[in-house]
Amino acid sequence: MTKYNLLFYFILAGIMILNACKPDEERPLNPNGDSELAVLMRDMYEEALQAKKALEKGKKPVLKLDHKAILTAEATKPEEVSTPEYKAYARAYMFSIRQLQTNMYGDPWKAYDKMVGTCTACHQMSCPGPLERIKKLKRTE
Ligand code: HEC
Repeated sequence: MTKYNLLFYFILAGIMILNACKPDEERPLNPNGDSELAVLMRDMYEEALQAKKALEKGKKPVLKLDHKAILTAEATKPEEVSTPEYKAYARAYMFSIRQLQTNMYGDPWKAYDKMVGTCTACHQMSCPGPLERIKKLKRTE
């Protein structure tokens, strides 16, 4: 292998490690490589899953994460989260959380569905990798 080939693979490996938006199974397990936003997203996923379970039991969901950090957490790809689209979806997500917390519609499932809708919409735009996982948050009727 020439020096240049080696350099090429080195760069390629770097890109693969830094790439946030790949399917779950390709994700490195090393937590040290994760951005603040990636960690927050995983917590958001867990919280949403617990919220779904609570609603299925007729209980009030517990929503205690720092949801507004979605606007400020350091991301793997900062250029991806600095767009007006990202910020609009982030605000839509925060709003849906508030709707769920305050039971704005008198029907918590309606707010819950909106919340999952904002996860899906933002990911369709910016980061399709986790969409399969997000699908599991949808209600099965
Ligand atoms: C405003 C856009 C936006 C919204 C809303 C959003 N995400 Fe994300 N999500 C992202 C971006 C960008 C990343 C990549 C983060 C990074 O690597 O820094 C990400 C990453 C993830 C990941 C992968 C984390 C990892 O392990 O690397 C999961 C899972 C995820 N999101 C689930 C969700 C769920 C569930 C919701 C809704 C409760 C949601 N997302 C809402 C933009 C969004």
